[in-house]
Amino acid sequence: MMSRMAGNRLVVVGQGYVGLALAVRAVEVGFDVVGYDVDADRIKSLAAGHSFVEDVRDVALRAALATGRYRPAAAFDDVDGFDVAVIAVPTPLREGVPDLAYIEAAVQSLADLLQPGATVILESTTYPGTTEELVAPILEQGSGLVAGSDFHLGYSPERIDPGNPAHTLVTTPKVVSGVDPRSLAAVRGFYDQLVDRTVPVSAPRVAELTKLLENTFRHVNIALVNELAMFANDLGIDMWEAIGAASTKPFGYLRFTPGPGVGGHCLPVDPSYLSWQVRRRLGQSFRFVELANDVNDHMPDYVVRRLVAALNRQGKAVLGRRILLLGVSFKRNVGDCREAPSRRIARLLADMGADLRACDPHVALGEFPSGVTPVELTTDELAAAEAVVALVDHDAFEPQMVARHARYVLDTRGWLPTGENVERL
Ligand SMILES: NC(=O)c1ccc[n+]([C@@H]2O[C@H](COP(=O)([O-])OP(=O)(O)OC[C@H]3O[C@@H](n4cnc5c(N)ncnc54)[C@H](O)[C@@H]3O)[C@@H](O)[C@H]2O)c1
Repeated sequence: MMSRMAGNRLVVVGQGYVGLALAVRAVEVGFDVVGYDVDADRIKSLAAGHSFVEDVRDVALRAALATGRYRPAAAFDDVDGFDVAVIAVPTPLREGVPDLAYIEAAVQSLADLLQPGATVILESTTYPGTTEELVAPILEQGSGLVAGSDFHLGYSPERIDPGNPAHTLVTTPKVVSGVDPRSLAAVRGFYDQLVDRTVPVSAPRVAELTKLLENTFRHVNIALVNELAMFANDLGIDMWEAIGAASTKPFGYLRFTPGPGVGGHCLPVDPSYLSWQVRRRLGQSFRFVELANDVNDHMPDYVVRRLVAALNRQGKAVLGRRILLLGVSFKRNVGDCREAPSRRIARLLADMGADLRACDPHVALGEFPSGVTPVELTTDELAAAEAVVALVDHDAFEPQMVARHARYVLDTRGWLPTGENVERL
């Protein structure tokens, strides 16, 4: 029997991009929040009011700390229980195989604190079945309680879009699920306090699949335009103009644009969670995902090929040439470099002996690809480079300035004004 009424003690396990945003929002609406993370340095800097997540400004973090209801913690020493716990820890791939060790460790640490009537919610992206088949047994064994009858358990995928001010945690509908109707009600009741709209689904595996469907959809469509961009270039047709024209269709078409490859935590990883599950359970290959991986993984090599071809047309080798990478993060207006295509592009060019420089005002100096000299974006830097490879369309980069002062630009995002010296992917 459940004994506890829903209360306001929240534990968020993992204070990264997802967990920190959630913790700060929960404090705003009145929760008493422990933000737990195994990374003691991260906890120290959060406690000092320094956020490393663009979407959570220092001022918001400091406001949360000032309430006295947000406590970053590297240990559960003085936590004696929780009403709700949310898990937002990494779910990487190790040699193509989902690594759920972080989830297992996080769940284990919660099992010791679990009390009757509490609610546990998984937010980490993962393959369908994780909540019921992996999380529930660990919690049950660790606590001696039963999911559904003694405590609530559910899954709710995070849809955060880093750097996107138009769709925030609060305004983006949140898919919610539970292992039974009462768990669903508890999970939904929690998020109804945090976001404008919740979308209930019938089971955690549906919610888990929803997240993977969304990311696989993006991954596949990006691969489609990437492959088409390569063919269109060889056919001598302006792909970007065709995309612009197709995008005027008010139904049945969604605009995706080519790029130097996919990065971040989601697209290079999440679809493979799904294809791994399909292979493991059904013995079949999820061909769309494999094809999309293949095309998108190839894009950094294609960017380098196009750059080499452009220099070759001018009778120049890469060896010893100064090349400026404009942007090294994985997408616009964020500093996240995880899986960013800039890494492979930099490595390929460094191997060819390029004199590599890069500017990215969002990225900390230690995060730049190795072999690259970080520089400020100035007209002199632009003019001194033999070629500029525009990898990220940050708002901080002034497109006219780049096009005016660079000798040659390979624009992989199609955002610079076109001209004799600007070539699009
Ligand atoms: N970043 C995004 O835009 C985004 C969007 C949707 C979903 N997701 C998913 O959310 C999950 C978290 O992603 P993220 O970007 O926040 O990751 P992150 O790496 O920014 O943060 C995860 C944090 O968890 C901590 N951690 C690891 N193991 C722990 C443990 N046992 N106990 C406590 N803390 C632990 C790490 O130290 C790290 O600070 C992933 O599954 C990811 O796929 C991320």
